[in-house]
Amino acid sequence: MNEAAAFQALTVETLPARLGSVEALASRIGADSSRWKVAEVGDGNLNLVFIVTGEKAAAIVKQALPYVRLVGESWPLPLKRSFFEYHALTRQAARAGAGSVPEIFHFDKGQSLIVMEYLTPHVILRRALIDGRMLPNIAADLGLFMARTLFRGSDLSMTARARKEDLALFADNVELCDITENLVFTDPYYEATLNRHTSPQLDALVAELRADRDLKVEAQKLKHMFAANAETLVHGDLHSGSIMVTDGDTRVIDPEFAFYGPMAFDVGMLLANFWMSFFSQSGHEANGERETMRAYLLGVVVETWAVFRAEFSHLWRTERTGMLYDRRLFEDRGDPLGSEQALDRVLHAIWVDMLGFAGVEVHRRILGLAHNADFETIADENVRATCEAKALKFGRHICVNRHRIHGLDEINLLAVRIEKGTVS
Ligand SMILES: Nc1ncnc2c1ncn2[C@@H]1O[C@H](COP(=O)(O)OP(=O)(O)OP(=O)(O)O)[C@@H](O)[C@H]1O
Ligand SMILES: [Mg+2]
Repeated sequence: MNEAAAFQALTVETLPARLGSVEALASRIGADSSRWKVAEVGDGNLNLVFIVTGEKAAAIVKQALPYVRLVGESWPLPLKRSFFEYHALTRQAARAGAGSVPEIFHFDKGQSLIVMEYLTPHVILRRALIDGRMLPNIAADLGLFMARTLFRGSDLSMTARARKEDLALFADNVELCDITENLVFTDPYYEATLNRHTSPQLDALVAELRADRDLKVEAQKLKHMFAANAETLVHGDLHSGSIMVTDGDTRVIDPEFAFYGPMAFDVGMLLANFWMSFFSQSGHEANGERETMRAYLLGVVVETWAVFRAEFSHLWRTERTGMLYDRRLFEDRGDPLGSEQALDRVLHAIWVDMLGFAGVEVHRRILGLAHNADFETIADENVRATCEAKALKFGRHICVNRHRIHGLDEINLLAVRIEKGTVS
């Protein structure tokens, strides 16, 4: 029996020779690998991503490295993240529909590489929002994506055995969970060495947040839920940089952080990124007024949540085949209202936790290691700091007051007031 070849990182030069015999790739893009053109996409932090163009078409080859690409060998990270990305993509396609993620053509576990559909003319959603583009479908598409993947990956839908087996499979994604556990929930709230923030402009506010006992207790409560509440298969990194769009199409990419965690995590991270886009718009005003864009973004938040709720409720009524909230206790004995009461409670818990996760996501993007382009591309540091300070205060409010906030009207009104400077 042939031993699997040892892992070797691909390069632009070696890729055609090494993958030329991969039928799933050659049959799609063109069999003559000597004529393939390979380009590396430079904008990911963790992995190698290549666009391979043959005579017929193009495909994406994504390969993990035994370390973080952007940092180098001093920050090791296991190759198996590619295995989790592959398995998450197949489950998301099954649960949310094939058109919600890139199609997978080939997976090589030993080489930690995934060959997948090249999304074109798609762009990264974060980039589109910075450019002031109003995508018409993102709220509906992402609301459905989250409701379907989160519901169908949980004990509300799966058999207990299937879910526990899947839970065991993803439980090994320890190192990527550890990144989130530290970088999202802990590091932003003390002077961790990897942190950075716009300084000196934000220094006083950052010191205030790091001394904020209520905020730190809440952030740790959220970390506790993240680590211990294995409710469903979450994407784990569902921000606007993990979504590719055209006006008519929305695709979720890059689920290498997937694991069994709380329902509200993906929802909170996504909405936080819409709110951060909202607060960053004034930094991009030089390229045209952004009032309409701000209104659009708050509308996207409202619609995403509404679609999520509606679809989750629909699946609750029509697909509740798992062991939770057993129909024999409710519908089967003529008590559908009992099941509606339970649904209300489940949705309310997701709402409250979503606000908390959104708050810490805002903080970590401004105080931690991984910043986002929404703010980073604002060249004038004073302007950037003004945008960031507003977002930080907003994040603190929704995180600490999450049990007392009743609806998005209240939150979006707060966002508008903070943006206008009528509340500080
Ligand atoms: N299927 C695809 N079609 C087209 N472009 C893609 C596709 N997958 C990835 N890309 C491009 O490659 C970039 C990096 O991809 P991805 O985010 O999956 O890599 P990563 O190394 O995991 O990055 P991150 O730092 O976000 O974790 C994306 O921002 C996008 O521009
Ligand atoms: Mg990634």
